[in-house]
Amino acid sequence: MALGESQGFCSSWEWDNILHSMTRVNQLLEHEDYISYMEKIDGLEKERRFCKHGFEHGLNVARIAYAYLLEKGELLLSKESIYAAAFLHDIGRWVEYETGEDHAVASARLALPLLEVCRFNSDDIQVILNGILEHRRHPEDNLTTLGEALALADDWARDCRHCSLQDLCYKYNQTMNQVMY
Ligand SMILES: [Fe+2]
Ligand SMILES: [Fe+2]
Repeated sequence: MALGESQGFCSSWEWDNILHSMTRVNQLLEHEDYISYMEKIDGLEKERRFCKHGFEHGLNVARIAYAYLLEKGELLLSKESIYAAAFLHDIGRWVEYETGEDHAVASARLALPLLEVCRFNSDDIQVILNGILEHRRHPEDNLTTLGEALALADDWARDCRHCSLQDLCYKYNQTMNQVMY
């Protein structure tokens, strides 16, 4: 009996379908380059007191961006594209730490070969790269749909309410204590 079936909320057919729909995202997470970038970031952020940019941050941004876009009725972006963009949006952080290059630009550059290897098509790749490039901009800046979702989710993914560094963080403001997603 499949795991989903045994839990009584999802038939094995539905379970397989959900998994199948995320094949390329899971392939991406297993890619040695993705893993090595995340390890570099984890190492460089060991002593960082502000929000870190490891796997958990990518997962939180993915789920929030997806929920936000579903709620908006955005049907043109696939779940895989949204998750891939979220998992890749900060992979260039280690480049920024080492060279000072804007990590949105570095992340988009590092993301391209990973997306190609994972068989995203060229249209999807363009959308994902634009989203990554835009994720640090203001959501009001006339961004692409994915760029706006990533920019918002990037802020909403933080636990500012319980953070001891509120006074020191350039991102913090009172509204960040509110739960959005
Ligand atoms: Fe970022
Ligand atoms: Fe981020």
